[in-house]
Amino acid sequence: MDLALKDKVAIVTGSGRGIGAAIASTLAEEGARVCVNDLFEERAQETAGEITSAGGQAIVAPADVTNREQVDAMVQSALDEWGTVDILVNNAGIPARLGEDSGRSQVGGGGFFTDEPEALWSRVMDVITYGVLNCSQACLPHMLKQEYGKIVSIISDAGRVGEPRLATYSMAKGGVVAFSKALAKENGRFKINVNCVSPGATVTPALADSPVAGGGADPASKERFQSLLRQYPIGRGLERIGQPQDIANVVAFLVSDRAEWITGQVLSVNGGYSMV
Ligand SMILES: NC(=O)c1ccc[n+]([C@@H]2O[C@H](COP(=O)([O-])OP(=O)(O)OC[C@H]3O[C@@H](n4cnc5c(N)ncnc54)[C@H](O)[C@@H]3O)[C@@H](O)[C@H]2O)c1
Repeated sequence: MDLALKDKVAIVTGSGRGIGAAIASTLAEEGARVCVNDLFEERAQETAGEITSAGGQAIVAPADVTNREQVDAMVQSALDEWGTVDILVNNAGIPARLGEDSGRSQVGGGGFFTDEPEALWSRVMDVITYGVLNCSQACLPHMLKQEYGKIVSIISDAGRVGEPRLATYSMAKGGVVAFSKALAKENGRFKINVNCVSPGATVTPALADSPVAGGGADPASKERFQSLLRQYPIGRGLERIGQPQDIANVVAFLVSDRAEWITGQVLSVNGGYSMV
């Protein structure tokens, strides 16, 4: 199926690694011109380098999505290079259980809500909700001007069904769902589609140390992985957990005109973990 993404201009936030990197590369493979954003410039360079080595088109736009000035500069980079923005993928996020590689200092998380420090709330809300607000508001005027645009935000099944020990993260991701539906209603008349993709556990560097990665040959690690797999109906058949490419394939479809009749929706890509 030709997704007809040739020369569409896409901004993918947090695409220096993990799910975002797979989305950026997949859109580029489909012919899109991709603005690779990340908090860490070297990560963005790496993804952009892979895209251009494969014959695709990419520029690097490092920015912290929580910082509106930096977000505006990121959008301006795409405009300077290609004159427009057709697609925004809000992917930048912090690992559900914050660690030192979240681009922030270790602030805890992964515990019960009663033990969560307020500092965690603001970090999570900042990146997950303000990141989406900043990037969406910075891109929308350009989409409105051309009466065409696609916005996809990567949420999490935690935001659909709630996840114990991830209360704040669940709240933030659920907020992005409601925001996306409101935006879809406001902007449908301008041919702007707004949707969410909701991964279940997906093997990325953010989860490198968790049982999700399936690492560890010892019996205890294997048992942990098998018990995780039991929560993913199709994962049991395929004997695997989600991969970034699983998410990227769906995003590529949703940002294409093949999906032009789909807006305000949330699609879980989760091996059947939750069936909402
Ligand atoms: N991996 C999973 O199991 C999983 C499951 C559900 C949802 N998600 C969501 O998918 C998205 C990607 O997750 P991932 O596992 O690929 O994470 P990751 O940590 O591997 O990659 C995220 C990237 O975002 C960047 N980033 C972080 N904060 C940023 C900021 N303020 N501005 C710009 N870039 C920033 C990081 O530097 C990193 O390169 C996130 O929104 C996450 O919540 C992941």
